Amino acid sequence: MSVAPRAGSGKITVPDILSRKPSSLGSSTFSETNSPKQKITCITAYDYPTARLLDDAGVDILLVGDSLGMVVLGYDSTLPVTLDEMVHHVKAVRRGTRRALLVADMPYGSFHVSLDESVRNAVRLVKEGGAEAVKVEGGERRIELIARLVEAEIPVMGHVGLTPQSINAIGGFHVRGKTRDAARQVERDARAVEAAGAFSVVLESVPREVAAHVTQQLRIPTIGIGAGPDCDGQVLVFHDMVGLTDGHVPKFVRRYAQLSAEISKAASEFCDDVRNGRFPSDAESYHSTAEVREKIPAATRS
Ligand code: KIV
Repeated sequence: MSVAPRAGSGKITVPDILSRKPSSLGSSTFSETNSPKQKITCITAYDYPTARLLDDAGVDILLVGDSLGMVVLGYDSTLPVTLDEMVHHVKAVRRGTRRALLVADMPYGSFHVSLDESVRNAVRLVKEGGAEAVKVEGGERRIELIARLVEAEIPVMGHVGLTPQSINAIGGFHVRGKTRDAARQVERDARAVEAAGAFSVVLESVPREVAAHVTQQLRIPTIGIGAGPDCDGQVLVFHDMVGLTDGHVPKFVRRYAQLSAEISKAASEFCDDVRNGRFPSDAESYHSTAEVREKIPAATRS
């Protein structure tokens, strides 16, 4: 067996994430040693350099989300993302990740045909991509699937509330769980995911009060996005949080940087410098030896 990083080495594992759930249902955010349970941090990543930066910054979970389709590949929704595209990006993130837990989204269509095919597809994300867990959108409808994946030794992160892969069925990216019935459905979905064996669940775009209640009810950690501050952890899409997305940004996104402006400024300064002969400078150029220089026509020597 090869030497894989394990608990104690600083590597974040699935049991580590589970252990971050406050112990007694709803009553305390403190562990037996009375130290506060640290909230779980999760950011999406799709490539090697970003994974390295996020991993070094101490992010607990790197999620190769199928948001890949919208923020990196330029699709209108997450629906066109293929399993091959996911595997390609998971591999890159794997190469840049040492400490964080690496979770890969199962893209639309990869778990909708049959259970056998779904397990085969999840195995690809683990075996080829190097993911340590997969994320599956949907609640009660995914009970069997989640149980099968867990049986195949693949840890599963659930995802309930707003599930972007359901965009055609639900008609838009709206907050879920606003009515009493809808709130109950979010709770049923989260409980179903837990009962099926998931080790955590993403709650997306649900009222803060609903997310707080669900978080209190579950034994597994909840990771919120647009679900208020009472979840056991928080996730953001990398491109949203560093200001690399334009157009409408949901109100739950906090911009921690404005990289679009920085990149545009750098690119136009580069164009300006090249067009005006300021780049590259002599110091940014390689030089021939004096002997060779003498044989080169004067025009190239100025
Ligand atoms: O695809 C994704 O990035 C996600 C997160 C928003 C949780 O599912």
